[in-house]
Amino acid sequence: MKPAVGVLLLVASIHAAKLPPSFKKCNRKDPNLNQCILKASEDGLRQLTKPFPSIGLPNFDPLEVTELTIGAGSDAVVNLEQKFKDCKLYGIDKTTFSKFEADFPNKNFKIVGVIPEIKMLCQYELSGKVLLLPVVGQGPSTIILKSVKVALDAPFEEIPKDGKTYFKFSVTNFSLDPEVISFDFENLFNGDKTLGDNINKVLNDNNKEVFADVKDGYEKGIGLILEKILNSMFTKVSIEEAYD
Ligand SMILES: *[C@@H]1O[C@H](CO)[C@@H](O)[C@H](O)[C@H]1NC(C)=O
Repeated sequence: MKPAVGVLLLVASIHAAKLPPSFKKCNRKDPNLNQCILKASEDGLRQLTKPFPSIGLPNFDPLEVTELTIGAGSDAVVNLEQKFKDCKLYGIDKTTFSKFEADFPNKNFKIVGVIPEIKMLCQYELSGKVLLLPVVGQGPSTIILKSVKVALDAPFEEIPKDGKTYFKFSVTNFSLDPEVISFDFENLFNGDKTLGDNINKVLNDNNKEVFADVKDGYEKGIGLILEKILNSMFTKVSIEEAYD
């Protein structure tokens, strides 16, 4: 199932936008191009504590995600549909990259990195079961993922327009592997505190299994969000503008 996602992108409708001077540029003929792009991307991400509407980039501190619906996996023991809305995602701007392969001839970027902590504050709706216990509820939720290894491939097409060329990315093979996961779903079972506390404990005691059930959905959902953001930027910033 393809997850439903929405991300808040406040964008000015400018084409052929210039990179703000604080963003580093790399040269495609640089023998250390990959290292240059790795540094420039990390450096750019760190600046996203505010939006840059002229180049289609939202604030990442936090990143506002209007909708993220994750279907239940096929596990029989843990089976939870998780619908989130009005999310604030903290931490993606702190990603450090360990690999950044920009393969221009084969039109593919391969990226590997670590996010120290992702904190996801949302309004949730849950339905399904955990260890045969039925679980329902809606309210505020906090999900924290720590030491998250991320990897993705971003193959691209080159779209010519008005004498320039623009990237059109697809984000594929996105993987998200956290070392530590914690869940806090408030107001489960219509606010029945005893039941709610018990289920949160069961979810946290079994966090690896619970995450395994929804991992694929999170990966597809967050992969789509990143794809939208990349393309929001690179329909405005041409390849010639981004790279010397
Ligand atoms: C995605 O991963 C598969 C398996 O590792 C690989 O064969 C494929 O080339 C990857 N896709 C891209 C676009 O790199």
